[in-house]
Amino acid sequence: MTAPHAFWLAGREATGEETFDVTNSWDGRLVGTVSVPTEAQVEEAVAAAHAVRDEFAATPAHVRTAALDHVAARLTERTEEIAQLISAENGKPIKWARGEVGRAVSVFRWAAEEARRFNAGDAQRLDTDAGGTGRLALTRRFPRGTVLGIAPFNFPLNLSAHKVAPAIAVGTPIILKPAPATPISSLVLGEILAETDLPAGSWSVLPVPNDRMPALVQDERLPVISFTGSGPVGWSILDSAPRKHVTLELGGNGAAVVLADWSSEEDLDWAAQRIATFSNYQGGQSCISVQRVIADASLYERLVPKVVAAVEAQVTGDPSDAATDVGPLVSEDAAKRVESWVDEAVAAGATLLAGGKRDGATYAPTVLADLPADVTLACEEVFGPVLTLSRVDGEAAAFAAVNDSPYGLQAGVFTHDLQTAFRAHRALETGGVIIGDVPSYRADQMPYGGAKQSGVGREGVRYAMDDYTYERVLVLTGLAL
Ligand code: SIN
Repeated sequence: MTAPHAFWLAGREATGEETFDVTNSWDGRLVGTVSVPTEAQVEEAVAAAHAVRDEFAATPAHVRTAALDHVAARLTERTEEIAQLISAENGKPIKWARGEVGRAVSVFRWAAEEARRFNAGDAQRLDTDAGGTGRLALTRRFPRGTVLGIAPFNFPLNLSAHKVAPAIAVGTPIILKPAPATPISSLVLGEILAETDLPAGSWSVLPVPNDRMPALVQDERLPVISFTGSGPVGWSILDSAPRKHVTLELGGNGAAVVLADWSSEEDLDWAAQRIATFSNYQGGQSCISVQRVIADASLYERLVPKVVAAVEAQVTGDPSDAATDVGPLVSEDAAKRVESWVDEAVAAGATLLAGGKRDGATYAPTVLADLPADVTLACEEVFGPVLTLSRVDGEAAAFAAVNDSPYGLQAGVFTHDLQTAFRAHRALETGGVIIGDVPSYRADQMPYGGAKQSGVGREGVRYAMDDYTYERVLVLTGLAL
């Protein structure tokens, strides 16, 4: 039996008294056993973070950027090993896991760049009124305090990177809590962080069980919470800690709109291919995967067979196989939930055009049309490889259909027209609008986050740095301006 994975307590390895198993949802094999921190160890990590916060905030930028650059370099060196690990613990096809490591490298690189230029200060002259003669205001940003970062299972490395890298960039301590299904890639990130000169206490990676999280959420020494995960959990965190600075990256039911001008064979082939790929990548377990296709009536009948063919061409299978497009969901229970939503929709009158079958934790890429408005699939985030098709008459109806959702994370609009693009940007109640592509496009330096029930706050390195800090103004008096 191999030793359990240690966790990272204030920058050093530690083990607790209990362990839990991480298994592969494709074949059920054991991926690893992970040690769970005791209450006393969690307290030690929080106390260490609290104690080091002033020292960390005062750390010169070159120390923080050297650490961030180091992490980027080591992730690059260890890409294949870490990708295999992500694929094993998450069930993510290896090609997507490799992509995820590449994105985490980019997050740390961006954080190093942003840390170099962050906080030089904005100067404002105050002698615009007589009372301000000789005065200058200098505004700089300072950390709000230690961050509690809670990461999800669907991008276990990259969404941990989005919590950790901005914290290092601004010099604020972080306690990272990985998802119970996928903690090992975050622990490997800890291995790499431990090679840096960051002050002890400035970071911990603690696989704390979910049922022990309310105490951490309430802890006043952790005034910032950055959560990515489900809506019910996210909003309950915000509701239970209303005076904390809480950012929530929650769900979405991403819409891809295909407008009348996107009508050549080449246009429709591209749209169908992108829609099929990004409704199924990571088994649809991405908050910006394509769940809804809203197509103009003038091209709907031509688009549908192309989408169905492209979805049916997705290769489902063993996530360790480089040819696999769609692997299992994170668990059999997750696949059963998706199955029950599709079954409900079909029983209520939806037309099944592809898929609709479950095999263990794997759910076949699925396409539905004629979805009744009141079924679960029409209102909620499916977080599985399921796509619904609907037809609309014109741009205004298409944008209204996108907005007819409790969620608002990202939307994709296939149009060639710049005026339409600007109208979409104005009309769509989402955190991002992607023109000429699916809603699933994300570059890690972009602001990323939701409107409505999709969350509050923004990730994307620079934007998280802003969220982790607040402006403090310095007024200088008696200057010869
Ligand atoms: C998410 O599921 O919210 C993250 C999507 C991404 O980073 O591509």
